[in-house]
Amino acid sequence: MRAHPAGPLHGGLQIPDGIGPQPADVNAVDPHVWPHGARRTDGVLTIAGAKVTDLVADHGTPAFFLDEDAFRSRSRDFQASFDGMDVFYAGKSFLCSSVVRWLDEDGLGIDVASGGELALALRSGFPAERLALHGNNKSAAELTAAVDARVGRIIVDSFDEIDRLAGIAAERGVVQPVQIRITVGVEAHTHEFIATAHEDQKFGFSVSSGDAAAAAERVLATDSLELLGLHSHIGSQIFDLSGFEVSARRVVALLATLRDAHGVELPEIDLGGGLGIAYTSDDDPLEPKQVAASLREIVERECAAARLAVPRVSVEPGRAISGPPTITVYEVGTVKPVVLDHGTRLYVSVDGGMSDNIRTALYDAEYTCVLANRESDARPVAARIVGKHCESGDIVVRDLWLPGDVRPGDLLAVAATGAYCRAMASNYNMLPKPPVVGVKDGVGSVLLRRETLDDMFALDTGLAGTNEEEAR
Ligand code: LLP
Repeated sequence: MRAHPAGPLHGGLQIPDGIGPQPADVNAVDPHVWPHGARRTDGVLTIAGAKVTDLVADHGTPAFFLDEDAFRSRSRDFQASFDGMDVFYAGKSFLCSSVVRWLDEDGLGIDVASGGELALALRSGFPAERLALHGNNKSAAELTAAVDARVGRIIVDSFDEIDRLAGIAAERGVVQPVQIRITVGVEAHTHEFIATAHEDQKFGFSVSSGDAAAAAERVLATDSLELLGLHSHIGSQIFDLSGFEVSARRVVALLATLRDAHGVELPEIDLGGGLGIAYTSDDDPLEPKQVAASLREIVERECAAARLAVPRVSVEPGRAISGPPTITVYEVGTVKPVVLDHGTRLYVSVDGGMSDNIRTALYDAEYTCVLANRESDARPVAARIVGKHCESGDIVVRDLWLPGDVRPGDLLAVAATGAYCRAMASNYNMLPKPPVVGVKDGVGSVLLRRETLDDMFALDTGLAGTNEEEAR
């Protein structure tokens, strides 16, 4: 969170708390934040060769527009940078069948975190051996589906689960490969990491308490399970390698402990996801190549010191692949100047909000937003983009500068909304979920269609037979 002095002066005027300095150009489309190649054409924001005004004419608002080439070049960049390692895309950040097929074509794996994500990947034709199933409370049905599909690995997270999975695999006469999710005592978010404590959370087996070693022992003693390796995920939106370094060191140390205790050298380690992206011009993300080189070096060094063979390393980027390629476009409905003690804030209401982007309300996330249907040289004003939900915390972009003539009917585009926005969307206030439209070579095609009221009401047994679409 940013701290600003109350009521700073701006061009002789007082401006509201919280807002940063006015950017040199509020119409600018910063390539650091927007999908590669995004620009203004005749003043209109253009992504993947399509003007957002044309995309909106075809698909409406609010809508997510996903630059397909940008998505694919990011996943291919990870795949190429992590040469000799494995990349499992974290499907929780955004998943649909087209994404699954792209990942398959490009040779990545997928980390699925529920029976639903697993079913989507399988129904989309993804090879089960390149799937990894996660979750701290996988049901017997989810485990059974994964075992029956022959998923490549299940990341076990509790002693209850080890026993449950062992029983399911034994019943079917199969040996299920697993990794053990361990808690290495590191938690990293954004620029900070803490290398002690943070054991007090629901995921994984603690290394320091001895549970991680005990879990490995239990799996090793179970005929229906094959212990492939150890898994550690330390956090999200990380800009700093130091947390990964500590994590890698502790994972390798446990490999050595297990070798000494049981005479086995496990063939795999997974260091999780969490690489940060640029939501604003100030964010400075790591490059996949840099991360790959650094992880490779740390693991090799630690293994040499412990006289261990270097295991196969995998990672699970979600946001770093799915976040930057997608933008959300909204239509402005109302514009309301609110006079405060220190200046005026322009509340700009759009036709979506916390139901399509809960991240600002939930994590105080920051986003970049521009006027998309035109540029304007009107004097910039301190603004706040809010949604249409019945809740004052329904904020999409907390503080930004917008041209002062922003008005109803204008389009606003928010950058880098591909991760954890559509994936965490809800129907709060009975708003249908927006579509996700893939854009390539100037052409938009629907990947996920807009939800309709009929879709939502189909679940309400008291409304059976009232489907308007069918009635037509
Ligand atoms: N692997 C595991 C085991 C994870 O739990 C996660 C994310 C990832 C990989 C992918 O992390 P990423 O590379 O996307 O940061 N809803 C939050 C993020 C929750 C992340 C949960 N686990 C947000 O919107 O920021």
